[in-house]
Amino acid sequence: MDISQITKQLQESISKADNEEALQQVRTDYLGKKGQLTELLKQLSRLPPTERSSQGAALNQLKIQATQDINNKAGLLSQQKMDAELLQDTTDISLPKYGRERGSWHPINTVRKRIENIFNSAGYETVLGPEIETDYYNFEALNFPPQHPARSLHDTFYFSDGRLLRTHTSTGQVRAMETKEPPLAIICPGKTYRCDYDATHSPMFHQLEGMLVDKDVKFTDLKGTLQQFINTFFGREMQLRFRASYFPFTEPSAEVDLLWEIKSSGKKETKWLEVLGCGMVHPNVLKSGNLDPTKYSGFAFGLGIERMAMLYYGIDDLRLFYENDIRFLSQFA
Ligand code: DAH
Repeated sequence: MDISQITKQLQESISKADNEEALQQVRTDYLGKKGQLTELLKQLSRLPPTERSSQGAALNQLKIQATQDINNKAGLLSQQKMDAELLQDTTDISLPKYGRERGSWHPINTVRKRIENIFNSAGYETVLGPEIETDYYNFEALNFPPQHPARSLHDTFYFSDGRLLRTHTSTGQVRAMETKEPPLAIICPGKTYRCDYDATHSPMFHQLEGMLVDKDVKFTDLKGTLQQFINTFFGREMQLRFRASYFPFTEPSAEVDLLWEIKSSGKKETKWLEVLGCGMVHPNVLKSGNLDPTKYSGFAFGLGIERMAMLYYGIDDLRLFYENDIRFLSQFA
């Protein structure tokens, strides 16, 4: 028996075995109960004592080497098998169980933030007030005495204790004057409520109130501020029209219209759209805020955030904002 012959055969069989079953067969063929090496070891006793010890040592050496080589090859094959499986397998088991879809801001909040940023960067501080208000801050302090006819325009939701859901964010005016000293420049954004519902009215909607009180504030300051704001918001020079109006808490008062371009069937048309209410803070309102109207003056304005969002994004039905339809909302991601 030629040990080097067997060694050569064994090495060839190991390197030819290209999967785990084939390698197992090699193990059985050489090292199994009836394997070649096992048989040879059994036959050692029949050899003459002179050959026995050298042959025995060589065979044992070969057995150790064979075991090691087969194990190494087994390791290699199992690594290759795993690599191939990983290439095939598209499931990454380290991922979380459910797909994570990225949410986005609601368009109303995006527009609110956009407006806030413009005013904040001009030095206006954002203040927030309660949505459940007293009659005082919503009406009386704003120069709507009890029985004032303008109250009926507000379609107010009342609680049985006389409190109400604020009908406008102008409630921020007197609250701000009570806690801050002039010069004061604030914006008060938030939810407002009126009992009204159609394509352009929702019982809950959003407004943003702005107010500036200082010495010598003039109507031209108001005009310049609003023009600058509207230009910045829409990113281009816009044409505004100040139309005389009435609000109990401002005198004089105006409504501001925006010249809006509408493209209908290829033709360009323009239309004046009302975007905000504004005016010079009424002396009675300054008094409600403990300020002397002979010393201080101010302007105020209020805008509807839905209105601004509809113009900004070209949305024609206000109700879309509140339906929570993901197909609508995901367009503003
Ligand atoms: N609060 C008014 C409304 O809800 C909007 C408004 C008008 C606010 C004139 C003002 C203002 O500050 O000066 O219709």
